[in-house]
Amino acid sequence: MKKYRSLHTISLGLIILFSIITMSSMNSCVPSKAVAAKTGVQLWSENCQRCHNTPSPTTFSPEIWETVGMHMQTRALLTEAERDKIVEFLKSAR
Ligand code: HEC
Repeated sequence: MKKYRSLHTISLGLIILFSIITMSSMNSCVPSKAVAAKTGVQLWSENCQRCHNTPSPTTFSPEIWETVGMHMQTRALLTEAERDKIVEFLKSAR
């Protein structure tokens, strides 16, 4: 019986240890404040190539980039602020 009790203590300790490790690694899921500080160029280079080649800013006229921005905002699940930054960059870089 005594043997079982110490096993129990060890496994309880392991469970607590793993919970602490899991909880500390879950912190990485919280969006960092750095995201809000990202520029349009950064957001464009990080997001638009997840599904296809990153489109060059010269591909479309500023008017078309507005439409593409709205379309790709829903595809890429971007916030409005992120979309605006990317579209601003695409329009200005031609
Ligand atoms: C989640 C996947 C995904 C992401 C991320 C994504 N796209 Fe797309 N994109 C697509 C798909 C799929 C199409 C093909 C048209 C359609 O069915 O929507 C497309 C088509 C396009 C087109 C062709 C014209 C159009 O509007 O259909 C352009 C330009 C474009 N994407 C630009 C971008 C830009 C700029 C970004 C970054 C803000 C981006 N995409 C991010 C999936 C994505």
